[in-house]
Amino acid sequence: MPRTGGAATRGPPQVNTGGGTAPDKLGHMAATHTYLTGIQTSGEPHIGNYVGAIKPALAAAESSDTLYFLADYHALNSVKDPAKLRHSIRSVAATWLACGLDPERTVLYRQSSVPEVFELATILSSITSKGLMNRAHAYKAARDRNAAAGNEDLDAGVNMGLFNYPILMAADILIMAADRVPVGRDQVQHIEYTADIAGTFNHLYGESYTFPIPEGVYPEGEASILPGVDGRKMSKSYDNHIPLFLPENKLKKLVRRIPTDSTPVEDPKDPDTSVVFQLLAQFADAERTAAIRKRLEAGGMGWGELKNELFEVLNAELTPLRERYEALMHPDSELDAILAAGAVRARERARGVLSRVRAAVGID
Ligand code: ADP
Ligand code: TRP
Repeated sequence: MPRTGGAATRGPPQVNTGGGTAPDKLGHMAATHTYLTGIQTSGEPHIGNYVGAIKPALAAAESSDTLYFLADYHALNSVKDPAKLRHSIRSVAATWLACGLDPERTVLYRQSSVPEVFELATILSSITSKGLMNRAHAYKAARDRNAAAGNEDLDAGVNMGLFNYPILMAADILIMAADRVPVGRDQVQHIEYTADIAGTFNHLYGESYTFPIPEGVYPEGEASILPGVDGRKMSKSYDNHIPLFLPENKLKKLVRRIPTDSTPVEDPKDPDTSVVFQLLAQFADAERTAAIRKRLEAGGMGWGELKNELFEVLNAELTPLRERYEALMHPDSELDAILAAGAVRARERARGVLSRVRAAVGID
């Protein structure tokens, strides 16, 4: 089970999308949470994202109110090629739908379709100290890189979008009055900042409106961190990733190229130090994984055969998804209509929160 962390939730969200609540036998309403997460549209999803983020988020959507959005304005900070950004927005949306996101159940929308987010970001800026932003990890890391490179201007290459990133992210979450945010552990500080900013707002304006204080929902343990083909954590930034929707022949080639040592076929091998085996274990069922582990440890199974097994299980799971993805990426697919419908639902919710926030601060 994922674990929640961060600040305690004060009170239920004040706006509800309506789904996910049912009275129990005594007629009490079950406590519900609103899950929200954003996915930057800055590149092609890989099998690490699939195992570590997409699958858990789709599992959460089975039982909770969920809003998942494409953080295209966050991506704009780093992606300066319009064609690439445009493609990535459709590609990330198609990926979620191809992997099983049900757009009736989950509100799927583009951040840029909800201008209320940006109005709330302006309001939040007025109550957020610059010092808090100075201490943000991503900003500090950029300054450290400049210092290490001997650059006198520590802010070289830092745009205001990067500096303000945590405020925009707080607005993404608070505009929907979401109280649960499933994200990777690299986002802990952003969630803490959001809780902090919401707390400041509540302290100042709480008599008129209070935001629920959101909590992060983080994957537990290291088990779901997939290694990349070079053994480090799989990441776009290391270029060691296996893209989720590679065509079959390219997937086969990439799996074949995963480096292995020169242990002869007949010698025993340690599955726990093998990237190929670790990837296989995420996709093969327990029985098949155990049988292969045994054969590796006993000797007699070569790396080539292990790679064939990995390709087979990967391809079996991904083929139907890849087909749906390709259909959705077609210009005439239902993708744009799904995003448009999601935007209508998201805006309705956002407008409700924003009008109460505006009234609370005196701009109504
Ligand atoms: P990348 O490192 O490739 O840029 P992101 O930072 O965009 O990936 O991550 C998007 C989501 O996928 C996050 O929730 C993150 O926790 C998850 N994720 C990224 N890489 C992995 C991995 N190797 N194993 C498991 N989950 C991952
Ligand atoms: N910062 C997140 C990431 O890089 C993406 C994101 C933007 C987000 N806004 C959000 C995640 C709001 C959760 C909630 O992965």
